[in-house]
Amino acid sequence: TREQAYPPILSVYPSRALVDEAFKVLVENLPPGCPVTVHSLHLSEDDNYWEAYGHYISDHRGSVSVSEDVSFGGTYTGKEPMGLLWSLRPVPGSRQGLRLRKMNVCTPMLVNISVHCGHLVEAFRDQTPLASVLTERWYMAPGVKRIDIRERGMRGTLFIPPGPGPFPGLLDLWGGGGGLLEHRAALLASHGFVSLALEYLTSGEIPTARLDYNYFEKAFNIIQDHPLVTPDRVGIFGLSLGSFVTFNLAAKSTIINPRCCVCISGFHCHPYRSMGEMIQTNLNKLHVDENNYQIWRDMSLPIPSDISKKVDMGKIKCPLLLVCGHDDQSYPAVELAEDIAQMVHAAGKDHLLTKVFYHGTGHMIEPPYSPHFRATTFMAKTKPKVILLWGGQTKPHSDAQEDSWKKILAFLQHHLYSTPNPRAKM
Ligand SMILES: *[C@@H]1O[C@H](CO)[C@@H](O)[C@H](O)[C@H]1NC(C)=O
Repeated sequence: TREQAYPPILSVYPSRALVDEAFKVLVENLPPGCPVTVHSLHLSEDDNYWEAYGHYISDHRGSVSVSEDVSFGGTYTGKEPMGLLWSLRPVPGSRQGLRLRKMNVCTPMLVNISVHCGHLVEAFRDQTPLASVLTERWYMAPGVKRIDIRERGMRGTLFIPPGPGPFPGLLDLWGGGGGLLEHRAALLASHGFVSLALEYLTSGEIPTARLDYNYFEKAFNIIQDHPLVTPDRVGIFGLSLGSFVTFNLAAKSTIINPRCCVCISGFHCHPYRSMGEMIQTNLNKLHVDENNYQIWRDMSLPIPSDISKKVDMGKIKCPLLLVCGHDDQSYPAVELAEDIAQMVHAAGKDHLLTKVFYHGTGHMIEPPYSPHFRATTFMAKTKPKVILLWGGQTKPHSDAQEDSWKKILAFLQHHLYSTPNPRAKM
């Protein structure tokens, strides 16, 4: 090895960014044609290490640019500017079924990016890197305000964008895993929407489908009544069970009028009082894969033709964006979306529906660059521990997360900011 007059330099631009912003990782001052590994390491809030890495060879100037050069091996290959984030996975020897999720959105996700000599595949922590940089990934943009909502029996968190307003609003509903998840609402506020992350199931409890719609209508009204919100520009964003709630509100509520809805991996049939009842009723359709991960998908098939067993989607009154993956192993999301489309069509409301389907994509479609988890522990209090298969292949799933987020933001921009209100009295 030859002596280097200057040590290698690693830079990340921007080193402080929103989670959905791309960064550029550049290594300079290497010898030309030098094999290096660019590695990212993150210690999660639940104290697990996640890592990703790519193998590169420096060019004739002794540089490696992760956004322009090809990775020849690692947790991702090819030209993948953001592979160091979306291919993050638990380090070898970690517990099974981990999920990476930021619970405290007031602090950034810290990612330590380092460059190592040679093409390494393991024992990164035993090596002294050539250089390293700590980068910050934020859900909350500077100036976003976070407010605990505990009024009127609610449990939620409101995020308010910086600036004088008024802003459009969004009610943000997560799925059957329960708990108060704030990260998406925080990110939506960073993009100009007053967003309320609402808890409606306590973590660990078996979710019930006998949901109290009044609770959601009250939450919607809290957003609508906020002095910084334009009252007729409030939408609903739901994922999984949150979509089921959204469909019910959009089709049935006589109290609220969402301006538009976004639903990821949604289902509109759930004729059970609880998830437990769904499982008991359909035990013969509950499958497991070779790792003993539970596959729920078939429990929702065939989709009932009897309208009394599902939400009558022909009754929706506002634009609806459906996002789903062909490899969803928890719910047959694409078949469900097609069934919804038929009902919307039969009601002569095709103009209200937009569907986006992705191949190789699972149930848990998160904001861009979130690591893909194919299976995670679900309902942590059940014994033995249940690991649910969500589905998706890492690369197409990550591409879908990036593409769908752009489409979701464009849809929300269009319906909550740009379009005149059809109901406004001129
Ligand atoms: C980043 O990781 C490298 C090892 O890969 C370590 O030497 C360095 O101290 C870490 N930096 C921080 C701020 O944790």
